[in-house]
Amino acid sequence: MEWINNSMQEIQPKNITNQEQKEKIAKQIAKKVKDGDIIGFGSGSTSYLAIKEIAKKIEQEELNITAIPTSYETKALCYALKIPTASILEKKPDWGFDGADEVDKNNNWIIKGRGAAMFKEKLNMVNSGITYILVDDSKFVDKLNEKMPIPIEVYPEAVNSVKEALLDLGATECILRKAEKKDGPVFTENNNVLLDTKFTEIYETLEEDIKSITGVIESGLFMEYPIEVLH
Ligand code: A5P
Repeated sequence: MEWINNSMQEIQPKNITNQEQKEKIAKQIAKKVKDGDIIGFGSGSTSYLAIKEIAKKIEQEELNITAIPTSYETKALCYALKIPTASILEKKPDWGFDGADEVDKNNNWIIKGRGAAMFKEKLNMVNSGITYILVDDSKFVDKLNEKMPIPIEVYPEAVNSVKEALLDLGATECILRKAEKKDGPVFTENNNVLLDTKFTEIYETLEEDIKSITGVIESGLFMEYPIEVLH
């Protein structure tokens, strides 16, 4: 039996910024989809538009593909569009796509995690041959972390000790992300909390240094991954 109501639609992005540009990139990525592909599906509004384009292509060309979603909302969208999904525990992606919050094109460095999904986004990325990063022009910056914070996912009980270590590492801002329609902090899909951070300098080993702090699950800093930026 099918559900008559579909609450899942209510969690999908509305009022998408730079929609025209994002739709153009969504069409570009849909062209890369081939029958039999196992594809890492990213999160955020650009990925949302890309997934809708891919669903159209699947229907028109009767393709069989499997999506490995990076978040609950992406998985829900796949269910709604009848795109088969698998966990990364079951299948390894052939390739993937995702959005980004900031892109430093010169260094191949990006920031992700506005939507708190960066743990699975990075897990997909390191296990995919290539991940296409879908961005509109607003995402390019001369210096990372000037506008967007670097989110860091932290085991909740370690939040004070991690904050102390991050300040020692040179963080100038380290703010526990608060929920908007719930009291208290945002909890990620992995039941962890987030610290939104600013650093004065983004140096080559910063991602590694952050990750080496006990209690850090993952950060939204992606330096030197196998990506290709599409815009
Ligand atoms: C989700 O946690 C993020 O990493 C998104 O991929 C990123 O914020 C891009 O989102 P938009 O496509 O909505 O800009």
